[in-house]
Amino acid sequence: MKTEDIISEVDTYILGTYDRIPLTIKEGKGSWVWDNDGKKFLDFTTGIAVTNLGHNHSVLTGVIKNQAEKILHSSNLFYLESQAKLAKMLVENSFANKVFFCNTGTEAVEGAIKFARKWGSENGGKYKILSTMGSFHGRTFGALSATGPSKYQEGFKPMLEGFDFVPYGDAESVADYAKSTELCAVIVEPIQGENGVIVPESGYLKDLRSICNEQNLLLILDEIQVGMGRTGTLFAYEHEGIEPDIMTLAKGLGGGVPCGAVLLNEKVAEQIKPGSHGTTFGGNPLAVSCAFETLKIINNNELLNSVGELGRYFKEKLNQLQTEYKELITQVRGKGLILGIEFASADMAKKIIDKTISEGLLTIHTAGNVMRILPPLNTTKEEIDFALETINKSLKEVHSDA
Ligand SMILES: Cc1ncc(COP(=O)(O)O)c(C=O)c1O
Repeated sequence: MKTEDIISEVDTYILGTYDRIPLTIKEGKGSWVWDNDGKKFLDFTTGIAVTNLGHNHSVLTGVIKNQAEKILHSSNLFYLESQAKLAKMLVENSFANKVFFCNTGTEAVEGAIKFARKWGSENGGKYKILSTMGSFHGRTFGALSATGPSKYQEGFKPMLEGFDFVPYGDAESVADYAKSTELCAVIVEPIQGENGVIVPESGYLKDLRSICNEQNLLLILDEIQVGMGRTGTLFAYEHEGIEPDIMTLAKGLGGGVPCGAVLLNEKVAEQIKPGSHGTTFGGNPLAVSCAFETLKIINNNELLNSVGELGRYFKEKLNQLQTEYKELITQVRGKGLILGIEFASADMAKKIIDKTISEGLLTIHTAGNVMRILPPLNTTKEEIDFALETINKSLKEVHSDA
């Protein structure tokens, strides 16, 4: 099909829930994708933190072919080796004792909320969940109720009962609130990705952990965007030397195939009985086989160290661009390979992102005035240099136009 026909048919037949960039994506290899006209782009969106090993990775392609020839689906009525392998590897490499498999991020957050409430119901009937302003946890009703910005909730109210919000990065406000006898859990992202890559000060998660311990509350970490190696450790909480009680994963977990998970410690897991929760597709053999191979590749010190090093290099160079273009760039933020460039206005962000796209670099326009950069974890210094050159060129053009 011709590019304009694809765009026209998508707009005609698919519900208009997305504000799409007028660009088709036909295929990909490594960090690169091609549109239907054969134009090549460096994909530093990774499908919004999903294709962490890049596109068309030979190991994943092999697993998919192999699994398709064995069995695609069989449900949770039976025991599956592929589920056992992934669950064991997740437990052995995290704080968790048990894993619940699902399909998407929002579904993982729904599960986390239910498991927290189940624990709360056995611990004095506590049911409230404290979340943070600016957070993003998903689009279904539980996750949406836990999501901070009201723009996501407009037209869909009332939200679920029992959710409150405190400023992100401010542990003291959680301490004040935590005395409420109805509170059962605090849910937080280690870095707020959708909100423009907001990195809290070091010590924030540690303080939240202490408050939760003191007040007998659960700490739920939403690592859907920043888990799976993105910050240079397998899970972002490792930087802070703490452990959550519940953690949600999705996005990068399946390496490109939809796969989500809720990880739980023993005290939460022991409250959950057969019939408490479930899903037809959760733990689907194709999804968990891809997730297992993805995790095997990512859970490697050399790769994780390289994420940290490349991230530091990228951020340092972006900071130099900020010094050069002070009127355009207000801040550079991030950790590992999740980076954000905050521009002086939303309009400027759009202009610069549009220019970088036309020069062959894909990034994400988020939170109004932020360019969010999510390279594959196995990207190279040369690819980062290409991205930097492209951003520099776009800044130069916008600067001389102004
Ligand atoms: C931190 C976080 N939680 C939850 C979600 C929802 O995930 P999904 O879009 O797979 O439902 C997202 C998606 O951006 C996210 O970034």
